[in-house]
Amino acid sequence: MCGIVGYIGTKEAYPIVIKGLKRLEYRGYDSAGVALMDADLTVFKKKGKVSDLEAHVSQSAQGNELKSTIGMGHTRWATHGEPNDRNSHPHKSQSGDLAIIHNGIIENYATLKEGLVARGHSFSSDTDTEVLVHLIEDIMEHTKLDLLDSVRAALSQVNGAYAIVILSQHHPEHIIAARKGSPLVVGLGEERGEFFFASDATPIVEYTKRVIYLNDGEIAAVENGELTVTTIDNEIQSPYVHELELNLEQLEKGGYEHFMLKEIFEQPKSIYDSFRGRFDSASGEFMMRSVQEYGDKLRNIKRLVIIGCGTSWHAGLVAEYIFEDLARVPVEVEYASEFRYRNPVIYNDDLIIAISQSGETADTLAAMELAKQKGATVFGVCNVVGSSIPRLSHAGAYTHAGPEIGVASTKAFTAQVTVLTLLALAMAKAKGTLSSSRITEILAELEIIPSKIEKALALNDSIVDLSKQYKDAHNFLFLGRGYNFPVALEGALKLKEISYIHAEGYPAAEMKHGPIALIDENMPVVVIATKSEHYEKVVSNIQEVKARKGKVIAVVTEGDRNLDGMVDHVIEVPETMEGFSPLINTVPLQLLSYHIAVMRGCNVDQPRNLAKSVTVE
Ligand code: AGP
Repeated sequence: MCGIVGYIGTKEAYPIVIKGLKRLEYRGYDSAGVALMDADLTVFKKKGKVSDLEAHVSQSAQGNELKSTIGMGHTRWATHGEPNDRNSHPHKSQSGDLAIIHNGIIENYATLKEGLVARGHSFSSDTDTEVLVHLIEDIMEHTKLDLLDSVRAALSQVNGAYAIVILSQHHPEHIIAARKGSPLVVGLGEERGEFFFASDATPIVEYTKRVIYLNDGEIAAVENGELTVTTIDNEIQSPYVHELELNLEQLEKGGYEHFMLKEIFEQPKSIYDSFRGRFDSASGEFMMRSVQEYGDKLRNIKRLVIIGCGTSWHAGLVAEYIFEDLARVPVEVEYASEFRYRNPVIYNDDLIIAISQSGETADTLAAMELAKQKGATVFGVCNVVGSSIPRLSHAGAYTHAGPEIGVASTKAFTAQVTVLTLLALAMAKAKGTLSSSRITEILAELEIIPSKIEKALALNDSIVDLSKQYKDAHNFLFLGRGYNFPVALEGALKLKEISYIHAEGYPAAEMKHGPIALIDENMPVVVIATKSEHYEKVVSNIQEVKARKGKVIAVVTEGDRNLDGMVDHVIEVPETMEGFSPLINTVPLQLLSYHIAVMRGCNVDQPRNLAKSVTVE
């Protein structure tokens, strides 16, 4: 997903913009660029990392551009046009007076481009973004509209998603930003006339905690030190100013080698933060706005549909077991990308839960919009405050896991499962499917889960040793049953997305229906065999693997000696209720994937081809 940073004020813009782009590197990108407004509007851009851009700027900058106090920067994750220097942002207009940076997709760019070419425009890139900045200038040239109204007019012709920032050489004291479908945050600087623009709050928080989350269809314009926010139809807005809760320390690695490892070790706290203050374990009362405002919906629900992508979809699969077990409600878990195009049957009395760490995943957003159009109530379970999915939801609950910078989702997954468990318990209470004493008993176990996660994290050193033995494997199989089938899927996804080893997660019972053909002495098989009603069946599956010389790494409940001698490695984890076992059992799998990837020299926080949030289809 592309990253955007803009600045206007009294400080030198270049250092702020470059540092901001580095804060956004986690989103995944293939090129970067900056535009600086001084006497001229100067653009530097390059395929590669932000560090490559810095080297390019230091070689190329001639005048006082680097002293400029107005600038913007962009990290590009290519959608239209391959990753190269000329397709990098910023893009300039025909005359060179305007420059733009853009996150999103302009779906009708080809039609717009044809019209512009017919009017004499020529293009230097293959991007949809360059078409937009030419369109804005074309409107200015052929109408009496000023820059801001020309931006308005151009955006009204655009189909698709955008978060843009625009600079103009003829309007040096201006900076214009707009959004539709892609996130854009405006930071209100400490000094008069100082404003920051970014895709999320991470490039802004060290300068100001006061931010505005632009809404779809809004335009933020700074002119001569004053900020106005209007709609595309030029209606003045009075945006709410949020006070950011996150701090700089949360954004740093805190002594860990990678953000991913830091976030794995943050899970005792992120799980605690995800349930803290949301229930009273003595009374079994739930203090969640979505529960209080939609109590009737929870009580009378006929069907729950959960939508998400990737790890969030896995959290939804865990939630299927939880909601059906505790609240006795039928649950369907859908890939958002399939749901949105399948012409699904959706009823007014359905409850949809959209799960998303970033709150910006395009397929999940589109699936939610479809469900809302068909009359369903939509809850969002998200981690990024103010992101698009919570703003589109009728209600929901933030996961409060703190910023998740590593592309591979870890603490967000366990926080999602935690919040979904609370919603399932609240629904069970509303429907009367669980006694108060059982609810209180479950909540009491939830309150000690953070300490059990701490114990699971203490496995780290033993898992480093284990990782050394399997780092060169070419394939992995992950097996689990019941609540831990989704954990097997999640373990496989973690391994493949950061170590590039092919891995599959499977229901343990399904192995005989195909995957067992893969088993030989070169196939490591991770089996989740913690105490559950399926335990004996899982042991049988392990014996089937061993009979075919497979290497078995078994995750077992601490103290279980049954598998010693039967399997090749035993990982002992703290015992807990079956419903909470995904929270515990996923930890050693996260650590295994992390250490194998590090030993393979992979870029753990920014794996190849991946973005932290997939805001395009
Ligand atoms: C998980 O490790 C991946 N990075 C990816 O599958 C991710 O979970 C998926 O893209 C959904 O993202 P979201 O939770 O931000 O919607």
